[in-house]
Amino acid sequence: MSGAMVRISGLGINYGSFAAVRGLDLELGRGKILALLGPSGCGKTTTLRAIAGFEPPSEGEIEIDGEKVVGESVFVPPEKRRVGVVFQDYALFPHLTVERNIAFGLSGDKKGNRVSEIISLARLDGLGSRMPHELSGGQQQRVALARALAPEPSVILLDEPFSNLDAALRAEVRRDMKRILIDAGATSIFVTHDQDEALSLADEVAVMLDGRIVQSAPPEELYHSPATKEIASFVGDANFLSGVSENGSARCALGEIPVGTSPSGEVEVMVRPESLRLENDDHGEARILDREFYGHDQLVRLALDSKEEMIARLGSGHTFDAGDRVSVRITGEAVAFPIKTADSALE
Ligand SMILES: Nc1ncnc2c1ncn2[C@@H]1O[C@H](COP(=O)(O)OP(=O)(O)O)[C@@H](O)[C@H]1O
Ligand SMILES: [Mg+2]
Repeated sequence: MSGAMVRISGLGINYGSFAAVRGLDLELGRGKILALLGPSGCGKTTTLRAIAGFEPPSEGEIEIDGEKVVGESVFVPPEKRRVGVVFQDYALFPHLTVERNIAFGLSGDKKGNRVSEIISLARLDGLGSRMPHELSGGQQQRVALARALAPEPSVILLDEPFSNLDAALRAEVRRDMKRILIDAGATSIFVTHDQDEALSLADEVAVMLDGRIVQSAPPEELYHSPATKEIASFVGDANFLSGVSENGSARCALGEIPVGTSPSGEVEVMVRPESLRLENDDHGEARILDREFYGHDQLVRLALDSKEEMIARLGSGHTFDAGDRVSVRITGEAVAFPIKTADSALE
């Protein structure tokens, strides 16, 4: 079957006079992973709760697998929505074994088969008779995921699935989770405030600010072509230079830079730190301020003669010292955002 697995239009959720979610539209294809990415308090959990059926919205429609679950005079209760939820704290039953946790939402005579199938899919072999407290954080997360996947829901919702894990574990658990979701053919929406998680895991990233989705795009597109300055800064590190744009290029402190399609006039030119190339040059246009060495790479802060500061992300092999003069080159295309004038801000 083709078509969207989840379709949301005009979703609004109010708490009293406060609009936590406003005019939210979203569409997610079958078997895809969507990240809802936004800062704390922007309405991510509220949105997930509305999809799951725990939060009756003030307005809008939600469709899951072609069936309207929220809309004019329709409200399908959570247990009838075929939605699996992985809560932020996993919410495993502490007094039940891994197997019985996973079997919880299953019924019928195929239960035993499904439990062993899902245990192997979630890479929990040999752990079926353990209690939750006898598992590592990563294993607990896989049990929560397995329990949500077991009844073969149409969509899996995960709220900040990595927030309870040590930084060292996260990357590994993230890879495991992605593999399990793909192997299960699951359609999933996960919520995160962490851009690395969103970019590395999702097929599509929806950026949410103040209760609205401000841009939804595949990770590469979102990173390289953010729609606004605000999104550019939220998704990754960004340098901004003031400039004037005309005919697809912008004049700024680093000379003439290609910026793709951009309206003419005053702009802010956004350059990602890894797009900068530095070279020792006594006549260069910048001076090194300081650097942070991380081993796999380093961040070098520099001041241009225009007084603008930039950050460059360089490989670990380069050596620059504070005070060095360098010339700065940009690889690839930059992005230009029109500067909002007092007039346009009122529109
Ligand atoms: N039950 C509630 N009553 C009143 N305000 C709420 C309630 N739940 C959430 N909020 C508010 O709605 C906003 C969005 O919350 P939430 O969806 O939990 O944000 P996020 O998950 O993005 O951090 C926040 O300002 C929060 O304080
Ligand atoms: Mg939340």
